[in-house]
Amino acid sequence: MTTVGIHDIALATGHYALDLAELADHMGIDVQKFYVGIGQQIMSVPAADEDVVTMAATAARDILDRNGADGIRTILFATETGVDQSKAAGVFMHGLLGLPSSIRVVELKQACYSATAAIQMAAAMVARDPSERVLVVASDVARYDLGSSGEPTQGAGAVAMLITADPAILALDAATGVFTADISDFWRPNYRSTAIVDGKSSVTAYMDAVTGAWKDYRSRGGRAFEDLVTVCYHQPFTKMAIKAHRQLAAANDVRLTPPEAAEALADTIVYNRVVGNSYTASMYVALLSLLDHRDDLAGQAVAFASYGSGSVAEVFTGVVQPGYQDAARTARTRETLDARAPLDYTGYVELHEAAEPRDGSAKDLPVTTKGRYRLAAYADHRRIYVDTETAA
Ligand code: HMG
Repeated sequence: MTTVGIHDIALATGHYALDLAELADHMGIDVQKFYVGIGQQIMSVPAADEDVVTMAATAARDILDRNGADGIRTILFATETGVDQSKAAGVFMHGLLGLPSSIRVVELKQACYSATAAIQMAAAMVARDPSERVLVVASDVARYDLGSSGEPTQGAGAVAMLITADPAILALDAATGVFTADISDFWRPNYRSTAIVDGKSSVTAYMDAVTGAWKDYRSRGGRAFEDLVTVCYHQPFTKMAIKAHRQLAAANDVRLTPPEAAEALADTIVYNRVVGNSYTASMYVALLSLLDHRDDLAGQAVAFASYGSGSVAEVFTGVVQPGYQDAARTARTRETLDARAPLDYTGYVELHEAAEPRDGSAKDLPVTTKGRYRLAAYADHRRIYVDTETAA
């Protein structure tokens, strides 16, 4: 039987890295609250000339360079940081990447969950016609108000994935578990550039939704908890995954202490700890981290616990394929993370408070990013993107 799943995966992130010690210093609090209490060390911050489109294009470029574009007839762009109310961010990306016109492009939204919906839709498309490959991109910038409780859980990143038949990395299982509840734990009204969050209730809502999705997964014939090598969780902050893992274990009559749960997830949290919340991309950053830090995964089943506030959750599983490791991919991910420029508190506040024009007036953006794709300017109510390798 043909398997369907993740054939390749690539990460991009913002130009800057803000060590949370900068934030703790400014707030006059013990940095261990961030490093240990929420399990976050660094957050990625995009430069003024970067956004979800440029990060997505950078991640997708790696996928195209390694795999070509043949057979790609669909691009699913998952984000909750949309750059336009009508035009899909993926259409800008399609242009930047110089892809052929015989491709459908659409944007998906449901907080941090929508990349998982994109994967499930992509898998169905490939199952219908195994000659097709679907490019799924998850790209987000997490922003909360300065001084808010969510501030240390900001971040930015994009993950691009190629969904194909006979995948090289992860073959998806057919069983999935889903859960939806209409709640207000985290949301961003159209008139705001930062999210509103009820932090404490969002933590409980996350755990309840994941447990609900797990129960549905099991009722649909999903694997037993003890048959999973680990779980990649949505990681708004890495401590969240550890809390959720303890609750999921308990729902399966397995009692884990916090250190035991942390140990079980250790390989999945290395990258998120230094990227921050990348919303839709976060759980797939966890997968990248796992692939790069374990060499014994071939043939093993991994679970994924996806959560998007509001709320929708999904649990699904897949089997890691022999030969999943790729030294070049790992090196590229580490190079991406290491290339970030350190940012101090003053620079962070400047970027945080910079607003894009709301009246259509022209604004050129300073050249900062070292990436190939830039948001060069705003003009006439438009966003002007450039590919620096082809621009005249
Ligand atoms: P807070 O109220 O500032 O923190 O915000 P706290 O007082 O609860 O402390 C956090 C932890 O640090 C506690 O540990 C403290 O004990 C510990 P815990 O009891 O949780 O294990 N602590 C220390 N540890 C060591 N040394 C110290 C120290 N001091 C304290 N000195 C909160 C925490 C998560 C609420 C906040 O960061 C927030 O509002 N974040 C944003 C919301 C969020 O991320 N929610 C997660 C679930 S919702 C979700 O995942 C969806 C989302 O990604 C959006 C989407 O779907 O699009 C957000």
